[in-house]
Amino acid sequence: MKKLIAVMILAVLPAFSFAAEHSLVLDKVDIDLSDKAAMQDGARTFANYCMGCHSAKFQRYERVADDLGIPHELMLEKMVFTGAKIGDHMTIGMQVNDAKAWFGAAPPDLTLVARVRGDDWLYSYLRSFYADPSRPFGSNNKVFPNVGMPNVLVGLQGNQVIGCKQVQTEVDGKRQFDPLTGSPLTHEACDQLTIEPNSGTLTPEQFDEKVKNLVTFLAYSANPVKLESQRIGTYVLLFLAFFFVFAYLLKREYWKDVH
Ligand code: HEC
Repeated sequence: MKKLIAVMILAVLPAFSFAAEHSLVLDKVDIDLSDKAAMQDGARTFANYCMGCHSAKFQRYERVADDLGIPHELMLEKMVFTGAKIGDHMTIGMQVNDAKAWFGAAPPDLTLVARVRGDDWLYSYLRSFYADPSRPFGSNNKVFPNVGMPNVLVGLQGNQVIGCKQVQTEVDGKRQFDPLTGSPLTHEACDQLTIEPNSGTLTPEQFDEKVKNLVTFLAYSANPVKLESQRIGTYVLLFLAFFFVFAYLLKREYWKDVH
């Protein structure tokens, strides 16, 4: 019994450490995996802004084209810059050792990143780069402090800076008010991000939409595998049910003579 309790405690421990690591409040994103236009836009952004460093090597161009309704020729023209063929995996030419030397860390494959990190994390991460002259590429990230990745979307988003602002005080997600006057309670917070007006080619709303589409594409990319395993799981269960019937009939047949 003691052993069992110890095992149960060990089993839930990772959940606690995970919760503690994610004390930062993430921005929520509500993605729609049936929105093909969003995923097409996300796929284009991924090819143009991410595949210089990140692969999606468990995914094939052809499958993406077919799933998202992109004609093969258009896919090859707009999204494939490596001379790859339509049936090839979405790999890149960068070598892991070079990448480590350049960025301090190798850019991980992103096929399954949406499952590992979650949609909200990705959405928040990609919108949380800010100028920081002390970093090698002049930028840092609020969600992933001291990340090795440069701020690749800065041209679209514009120059984002971090600084102090008066913000409304919240406890457990509830806004706090002065009990006497009823006016909102505020305090100064020094981790507030602000985009310098008109420093990017997109407005903040357009940029958020762009990132949302990119996250939708990444979520789709992590999903076919999940759908596939669910499908296989169903077949396995059906097979077991089917097999059980025959095993039972066989058993009855054998035991008939024994009794
Ligand atoms: C110039 C190279 C480069 C480009 C372009 C780039 N990244 Fe990265 N990215 C990196 C590096 C390097 C890391 C690893 C950072 C680290 O571990 O410190 C990284 C890390 C990440 C991570 C965190 C992965 C994890 O779970 O730890 C995500 C998510 C990510 N990149 C998404 C993107 C997306 C989306 C794009 C396109 C908009 C993009 N990156 C473009 C270099 C790049």
